[in-house]
Amino acid sequence: MGLATAVFLAKKGRPVHVVEKNPQIVENLPKGSLHFHEPTLRKHLETTVKSGQLTIGLPEAAPFQDNALIFIAIDSVVQDLWKMRLSSFEQMAQWLGQRKTRHKRTVILKSTNILGFADAFRELLWKQPHGKTLSLAVNPEFLREGFAYEDTESPWRVVIGAEKPAERRALVDLYREVYPKNVPIVKTTCKEAELIKLGSNVYLSHRLAFIHELADYARQAGLDIDRVRQGIGLDERVGQGYFNPGLGFGGSCLPKDCNLINSRELDNTFEFKTAQTALEINQRLLDGLVSRLEHAVGQLQDKKIALLGAAFKADLDDTRGSQAVNLALKLAEKGAQVVVFDPFIDGAYLPGAEAIPLADTVDEACHDASAVVIGTAHSRFRRLSAKTLSGLVRNKVIVDYFRILNQPRWQKAGFTFA
Ligand SMILES: NC(=O)c1ccc[n+]([C@@H]2O[C@H](COP(=O)([O-])OP(=O)(O)OC[C@H]3O[C@@H](n4cnc5c(N)ncnc54)[C@H](O)[C@@H]3O)[C@@H](O)[C@H]2O)c1
Repeated sequence: MGLATAVFLAKKGRPVHVVEKNPQIVENLPKGSLHFHEPTLRKHLETTVKSGQLTIGLPEAAPFQDNALIFIAIDSVVQDLWKMRLSSFEQMAQWLGQRKTRHKRTVILKSTNILGFADAFRELLWKQPHGKTLSLAVNPEFLREGFAYEDTESPWRVVIGAEKPAERRALVDLYREVYPKNVPIVKTTCKEAELIKLGSNVYLSHRLAFIHELADYARQAGLDIDRVRQGIGLDERVGQGYFNPGLGFGGSCLPKDCNLINSRELDNTFEFKTAQTALEINQRLLDGLVSRLEHAVGQLQDKKIALLGAAFKADLDDTRGSQAVNLALKLAEKGAQVVVFDPFIDGAYLPGAEAIPLADTVDEACHDASAVVIGTAHSRFRRLSAKTLSGLVRNKVIVDYFRILNQPRWQKAGFTFA
C-alpha cells in the first residue's frame, strides 16, 4: 500500500525515499519488478525510479532528513492473532526521536490499526530524547487492491487525523498541492480517523456478508440471485456497486479490520456486533458450500475436487485472507483431494495452504474430479469450455457462487450446479 503513495508523490515531482526491510524487495523494486499484481503501479514505478525521483533502501541506510514527511505503511498487525506489531513501532519511534532537527518533521500513520493506536505511538515517541519535536497525524488509506495507483491518484476522499491543526498542516499543504480541489479532505482527531478506517471496512464487510447471505437464501429457494440483487440494488439508497455474490469476503484488510474493531488491546471494550456477524456469515457460507458438495457427490473422503482460482479477488494473485484458500483447507479437512489451479499463481503448492497442490492447467486440475468449484471470479474463467471439461471430469458437478458461467450452456453439457 505504501508504495502506491510513494510512487504517486514521486510522479507529482516530490523526492521520495522508500525504506523497506526486505532485502529482496529492495533489490527488485529499482528494476521495476513488483512482487504483486498492480500493472499501473508497475508502469509508474519504472518511470519514477528511472528519473531518480524515487529511491529505495534498507532501514540501516535510511537518510535522516530534516523537514520531511515520514509515512508509516508497514503491515502493523500480526495476522490471525490480530495483535499490534508493537516492537516494529518501538524501533521506529527510537529511530525517529533520537536526533534533533532544525525544521519540524511530520510522522504520518497510514497503516490500519486498533482504535487508540496513534495515542500509544505518540507515547513511544515522547519517550525519545527529541520525540516531542515531531508532529503526528493519522492518514488512513482506502485503496482497492488491483487499483492501487488509480485510487491513490484519484481518491474519493482524504482523511487526516491530528490532535492540533499544526500537526496536520504539512500534510494538508502537500495534499492540496497534489490533489485536485474537488477531492474532499476530512479533518478529524487521530481516533476519529482510526475509526473512519475501521468503520469503512466493517461497513463493506457487512454489505458483502449481506449479499452473500441473500444469495444463499436464493440458492436454497431455487431463485435467481442476479434478478433479486438487481431488484434490490436499483434502489438508490442501496446501490448496485460492491454487491456481487461469491465465496464471501477476504483479502488482507476486511476480515482483519472486522477483528481489529473488536480488539481488546489498548483498553478497548466496545463489542461491535456488525463486525462479528459479517465474519460469522463468511464462515457459514463455506460450511453450507461443503454440505451442498456432500449432497451432490457423497462423502468427500478421497474424492478429487478441482478448485479454480485461489486469489481473494478476480485477476489478482493475492491469497491473503482468501475464502478460496479457506475452502480448500475445509475440503482437505474432510479428506478430499483438493487440486487448485490459479492462472496468477505459480509454484507447486498453494500459498497459505502448503499441503495443497497447484496444477499447471485447468485440464490438469479438473481431470477425474468429482466436482469443480470456482474459487475466484478470474475473467478468463468466464470462457471455460463446458464441452472440454465434460470430457475430463468424473462427475459433472460444478459450483459457481460468482455466477460467471453461462448456466444454461453448462447444464446443456450435462453439468449440475451444486
Ligand atoms: N493492501 C491494501 O490494499 C491496503 C489498503 C489500505 C490499508 N492497508 C493497510 O496498510 C498496511 C500495510 O498493508 P500492505 O498490504 O501494504 O502490507 P505488505 O505486507 O504488503 O507491505 C508492508 C511492507 O512493509 C515492510 N516492513 C514491515 N516492517 C518494516 C519495518 N520495520 N521497516 C521497513 N519496512 C517494513 C514489509 O517488508 C512489507 O514489504 C496494513 O496496516 C494494511 O491494513 C492496506
